[in-house]
Order: sequence, then C-alpha cells, then structure tokens
Amino acid sequence: MLGPVLLAAARSDSIRRAVSATPVTRPVVHRFVAGEQLDEALTGVRDLARRGLEVTLDHLGEDVTDRTEALRARDAYLALADALRGEGLGERAEMSVKLSAFGQALPGGHDVALANVLPVVEAAAEAGTTVTLDMEDHTTVDSTLAVLAELRRRFPQTGAVLQSYLFRTEEDCRALAGEGSRVRLVKGAYKEPAEVAYQDKREVDRAYVRCLRILLAGEGYPMIGSHDPRMVSITQELARRFGRKPDEYEFQMLYGIRAAEQDRLVAAGHRMRVYVPYGTDWYGYFMRRLAERPANLAFFLRSLATRG
Ligand code: FDA
Repeated sequence: MLGPVLLAAARSDSIRRAVSATPVTRPVVHRFVAGEQLDEALTGVRDLARRGLEVTLDHLGEDVTDRTEALRARDAYLALADALRGEGLGERAEMSVKLSAFGQALPGGHDVALANVLPVVEAAAEAGTTVTLDMEDHTTVDSTLAVLAELRRRFPQTGAVLQSYLFRTEEDCRALAGEGSRVRLVKGAYKEPAEVAYQDKREVDRAYVRCLRILLAGEGYPMIGSHDPRMVSITQELARRFGRKPDEYEFQMLYGIRAAEQDRLVAAGHRMRVYVPYGTDWYGYFMRRLAERPANLAFFLRSLATRG
C-alpha cells in the first residue's frame, strides 16, 4: 500500500527538498510536467492544439504560507492570461487554479483567495477563456465552493471540480448540475479519512458513475476527468441516452497520460482537453501522480536505477 505513503510524502517539506534536489528526478518529472517556464508550456499547448486537443493550464503551486507567495501565484496566472490573449489561444486553452496557491489557508483565507483569484478570472474573460477551480483535500471543499459561487455571479462560466471519493459529492453534483454550470468530475487524488471518503476503489468507481449520471442528465456542461476506459465508455453510453451532442460535454486527461487515447477520442469526434501543468513547484503534483498508479512509480524507480 504505497499510495498513502506517497500521498503523505507529498505534504512533507523535508522529502520535498530531497526529491527536488535530485538531478535524476528531472527527466521523469518532464513526463508529467510541460516545462518550468511559461514559454515551454505555450510550446506544449501549440503542439496539443495541432493534434486537435483543447488544454487547461495549471501554473504549479499549492499550500502557500504567506501573502507574498499568494500574490506571486496570482501574477503568474495574470502573465499566463496575457500570453493566451496575445497568442489568440483563448479559444483552445483555459486555466486551472488551486485556491491553496492563492492564500486559502491563510488567516481570512476565503477573502484572500477570492481577492487574488478574481483578477485572474477577469483576465481570463478578457482573453476569451475561463478558469476552473481545482479541488484539493476535503477540508477545503466548502471554502472552494463558496468562492466558486461568488465568482459565478459575474462569471457564470467559472468551473468547479468534484471528487467522487467524497461521500458528499453526489449532493454537490445535484447542486451544480444547473444550466451554465461547468463541472469537472474526477475520482480524487488526496489521502482522505474514512469518515468523509470511500476507501475502496470499487466504491469510488461506483460513486463516479452515479455522479456521471447526475451531471450528464443535468443542464450543465460536464467535464469527464478520468483516464479510466470504463468511465470513458460509460460516459459515451450515458451521453447517447441523455441526448447530449459531442459539444455538450468533454473528456479531460492529464498531460503525459494516455496520449494515444486522447488522440483516439479526438478522431472519434469528441472534445478532449489536456491538463497541462508547468512551473518549478512540481513536487506535490508529481507525488500524487506516482501515488495513483504503481506503473508511474515503477517508471520513476527504473529511471533512478538506470541513471544512478
Ligand atoms: P484510475 O487511477 O482509477 O485508474 C483506472 C484505470 O484507468 C486504470 O486501471 C487504467 O486502465 C487506466 N489508467 C489510469 N492511469 C493510466 C495511465 N497512466 N496509463 C494507462 N492507463 C491508465 N484530482 C483532485 O483531487 N482534484 C483535482 O482538481 C483534479 N484535477 C484533475 C484534472 C484532470 C484533467 C484529471 C484527468 C484528473 C484530475 N485529478 C484531480 C486526478 C484524479 O482525481 C485522479 O486521481 C486521477 O485522474 C486518476 O484517476 P482515473 O480516473 O484517471 O483512473
């Protein structure tokens, strides 16, 4: 059961420092992260766009501990929005943000995060695109949904992420299945206690299907964030049943994961969006990718062994 150990390590500062300083980690990280700088990410976006893929960009960073760092996160996204506008990429590329990078955990966190993310959402609208609020661990869900509700008053296209491993999520899906609402449904990537979340993968999958049904039967725009072939085919079947056209929902997968399947779905006429992380603060994101799949971890360990 390495997953929980890796998820705990994802939150450890000392392990972060050790892993980040190991030079052999870098090439492996680059399998999941588009680059450390904005221009590398934009090159990645152009490549994906040529393959007919849509994109959501994530400037890596989370769990900031002071206001200056939160302002830096805001400024990185403002620069990104500027670049998307300048390059006319707003139609292809939206942005994903983690509110913990915008100061959500600081004193008065709701107001701090809202004040920092609002200019980003405004800049996204000016660039002809939108923002989706990633969902982090369960202690942040109420706060994130409250910020979402405030943003949606002026920018109803702002998206949310809901995680099927949480018991509460079916109810949240119902609340967010209305017209104009954009919801990315994922299984969930954090280590959560049994009081709030299913621990058994089969339970998480069953909950995912129940949530899919609610969102696809609803009036909103569902974004299916999963690499799981079963979830992809169940989505296709439910979309047919509920009479959804291909532009009335989309699939989403992470950069570097199942690229051939991403192309296959585009060729089959589906809208497919790739989540493209970039930046120097890749540690937490990278560790969650290792935790969710033994093959990812094996790939990492093999490359340490062959280079070390
Ligand atoms: P899961 O890990 O359950 O695997 C099921 C099956 O999928 C596997 O048996 C295999 O067949 C296939 N598969 C999975 N990974 C594969 C791989 N690397 N190669 C080949 N096949 C593979 N989480 C969160 O908590 N908050 C968030 O905001 C987000 N945001 C987000 C955005 C997007 C676009 C995606 C795709 C995912 C997220 N996540 C997330 C992560 C999510 O919660 C989840 O941890 C991962 O997507 C893994 O779950 P899956 O549904 O992909 O498959």
